[in-house]
Amino acid sequence: MKLFVANWKMNLEVGESEKLARACVQKLPKPGVTVVLCPSHPSISKVSSVVKGSSYKLGAQDCAIEDRGAFTGEVSAKDLYQLGCRYVILGHSERRAMGETDEQIRGKYMAAIRNKIQPILCVGETLIERRRKLAAKVVSRQLNFVFQSLQTTKDFQPIIAYEPIWAVGTGNPATPKDAYQMHSLIKKIIGEKFNRKKVLMLYGGSVDLQNVYSFLSTSEVAGVLVGGASAKPTLPELIQSASIDKKR
Ligand code: PGA
Repeated sequence: MKLFVANWKMNLEVGESEKLARACVQKLPKPGVTVVLCPSHPSISKVSSVVKGSSYKLGAQDCAIEDRGAFTGEVSAKDLYQLGCRYVILGHSERRAMGETDEQIRGKYMAAIRNKIQPILCVGETLIERRRKLAAKVVSRQLNFVFQSLQTTKDFQPIIAYEPIWAVGTGNPATPKDAYQMHSLIKKIIGEKFNRKKVLMLYGGSVDLQNVYSFLSTSEVAGVLVGGASAKPTLPELIQSASIDKKR
């Protein structure tokens, strides 16, 4: 099963989110592909009603560290769960760029797990870090920080989205080869930590209609995290082309 995660960021109004979700549910994804729609927080409730009872899943773009209390402006994982969210994107590079720290991301990660929401942890290096051959070091730090001393149940399956920052929103995607090279590092770290042979790694960064298949057909890549291209009216078409069938 491959995962297609649509990160609408803050690109759509509530009505636009609802409309796009409606257009999606009218066409089921191809077999073997699970689609997670991640609207902005104010749109979650409407999109939740649209996807209810369909095969589409609902996700959020962030959550708070705490479940309840005096945290003005925060949105708790507990409430997200009640609204139907079963996934949450955490540690996105756009949030890290606004000052979110590894420590905060770890707190959010624990909040998600506590509330039975599957976190999708984003990691990735900047162009300068890549040119300085620091990509592996940066991604290792991001992973180790979140996963150190994390207590989970045996059936917990981490999902990591490798999103090189130089590829996010730039129209300049990494190659499937770049993605699966990073997969081996992620597999090593996560595999050792959780004693798993299989690690679910998504690729994100300028995925579009033209290249989505090249990522999904790569066995090391368990799915894609799509930003800009997922917030366009052509999303249903993009989902349709997110097939793993070679004879599409
Ligand atoms: P992009 O964004 O597809 O627009 O590059 C990906 C992301 O931010 O998750």
